[in-house]
Amino acid sequence: MTMITCIEDLRVLAQKRVPRMFYDYADSGSWSESTYRANALDFGKIKFRQRVAVNLENRSLASTMVGQPVSMPVALAPTGLTGMQHADGEILAAQAAERFGVPFTLSTMSICSIEDVAAHTTKPFWFQLYVMKDRAFIERLIERARAARCSALVLTLDLQVLGQRHKDLRNGLSAPPKLTLKNIANMATKPRWVAGMLGTKRHGFGNIVGHATSVSDMSSLSAWTQQQFDLSLSWKDVEWIKRRWGGKLIIKGIMDADDARLAVGSGADALIVSNHGGRQLDGAQSSIEALPAIVEAVGGQIEIHMDGGVRSGQDVLRAVALGARGVYIGRPFLYGLGAMGGPGVTRCLDIIRNELDLSMAFCGLRDVQQVDRTILLPGTF
Ligand code: GLV
Repeated sequence: MTMITCIEDLRVLAQKRVPRMFYDYADSGSWSESTYRANALDFGKIKFRQRVAVNLENRSLASTMVGQPVSMPVALAPTGLTGMQHADGEILAAQAAERFGVPFTLSTMSICSIEDVAAHTTKPFWFQLYVMKDRAFIERLIERARAARCSALVLTLDLQVLGQRHKDLRNGLSAPPKLTLKNIANMATKPRWVAGMLGTKRHGFGNIVGHATSVSDMSSLSAWTQQQFDLSLSWKDVEWIKRRWGGKLIIKGIMDADDARLAVGSGADALIVSNHGGRQLDGAQSSIEALPAIVEAVGGQIEIHMDGGVRSGQDVLRAVALGARGVYIGRPFLYGLGAMGGPGVTRCLDIIRNELDLSMAFCGLRDVQQVDRTILLPGTF
């Protein structure tokens, strides 16, 4: 049995177990991948202040995100095709998050549908929405999320056009995968994955095929984006969605202080500082580098969350110290899922929690809600 001690161990195991097309989909960034790499590398530049001889009894990581209790300030990010990293992936990840007491965010581009995830969980999860041309379909998705008792809507604003990911083009990414010789040869080396997929019916885009009019077959994310995503998206649409939804609204994809002010004006409850995991605008700042200016601009008016490059509990602590009320992990939980299914997601959350808890203690604090930038070394952020 492989010993798993950190997120990198999960990544290595996932790479062995998940067909290349889907591992690459999760693991890559757009064009030169400079923003993808910077997301993780820039965290390492921020240094902590170690404190000693401080009482460290009774530590707490409990907090809230958009007013909802969380066992630590971490959520599972919306990630497309999660059910292709492992059979029934969205259901397994949602169940692991529920047991752990952190939010799970279901992507519009998921394999398991909203209803399917709701039927296999007992607590509310969050739903991520893309703005598509077909407004009637958006209204139906919002209704479905409401009927499934989703407790927040995460509206992604940075994917009207799709950043080019070279590996996806070369691999001919699709869900389900096309049975070409190359794919069959690769899948033959992933028996656990194949066995899981043979045991489930969930192989296509569960929220879309059979639900959106004019879509009877949709295997490729890029074809769907080109046909359906709305190039004329504006803040008026955000306000319209806010009214239709009526519940907690989180805007995802903010990298600029001016946009952050517009997000506040739209009436959203939170914004996520995000460059889509370095998968959209290559050459943009890393998320952790962008965070302080956005906190400075609007931190008193709206809850600020972030994602991108988080690979450890230390990274969560750095983001919280710089003003993030919530920190999303995407690839870390996908690696866990690809490596070991549901228990791999739990393992990922355990690793992050332990690293966060111990690092907070080394900085001399007992309560994550007390964390602020005084735990960081000035000049390193
Ligand atoms: C979709 O959200 C993607 O980044 O592929």
